[in-house]
Amino acid sequence: MNFKGSSPKSENITEVEHLVAGEQRARLKGHKGGVFWLTGLSASGKSTLAMSIERELTKLGFHVYVLDGDNVRRGLNADLGFAPEDRTENIRRIGEVAALMADAGLIVITAFISPYREDRDRARKASADKFHELYVAADIETCKKRDPKGLYKKAFAGEIKEFTGIDAPYEAPENPELKLNTGQDDIETCVSQAVDYVKASVALDKS
Ligand code: ADX
Repeated sequence: MNFKGSSPKSENITEVEHLVAGEQRARLKGHKGGVFWLTGLSASGKSTLAMSIERELTKLGFHVYVLDGDNVRRGLNADLGFAPEDRTENIRRIGEVAALMADAGLIVITAFISPYREDRDRARKASADKFHELYVAADIETCKKRDPKGLYKKAFAGEIKEFTGIDAPYEAPENPELKLNTGQDDIETCVSQAVDYVKASVALDKS
């Protein structure tokens, strides 16, 4: 694979070729790898959708794994906060990890706010044609009303700074491969739309 998402700081590094082809891995798994990048506001439904998509696809025999913001920020990205440069680094690392996992043949579902277009575009570059942007669309009023973790309330009270949608920006996708209207449609409808889309995208080429 080509590592194209980020520009390396180190010099004198040479890419080492794998001796296993992507097609071989796909044949073994019964499907291609891919990155299905969910983006949307906090409380738009990304994690709920991601976990349900993972469960449904696993039941059908697909090899799938969710990378979720709140989980990854407890480990790999435990050193990062929510300032713009930290969010950019958060998404850069996830973009690279997701690209590796997809190259290994997995279906990766990511659930990060990923508020900046430029950062999502870099993640797309890292996975090239394996990347799919899925916009989890719920308007800010709906998200504020849901507020399952009480974070919007805290942000309004000034207890959380730089909260996305309040005093930090969210740049909605302009041309997502799929838009999931979690603000209007029920969760089952959105899960089934996403599952159908993933299945079609990772199907082996008939030949
Ligand atoms: S991202 O902007 O860098 O993509 P990420 O998806 O990893 O964010 O993490 C978002 C989660 O962190 C939210 O679901 C919420 O639970 C929590 N969080 C804590 N502080 C903030 C904040 N200032 N803005 C947004 N989310 C926050």
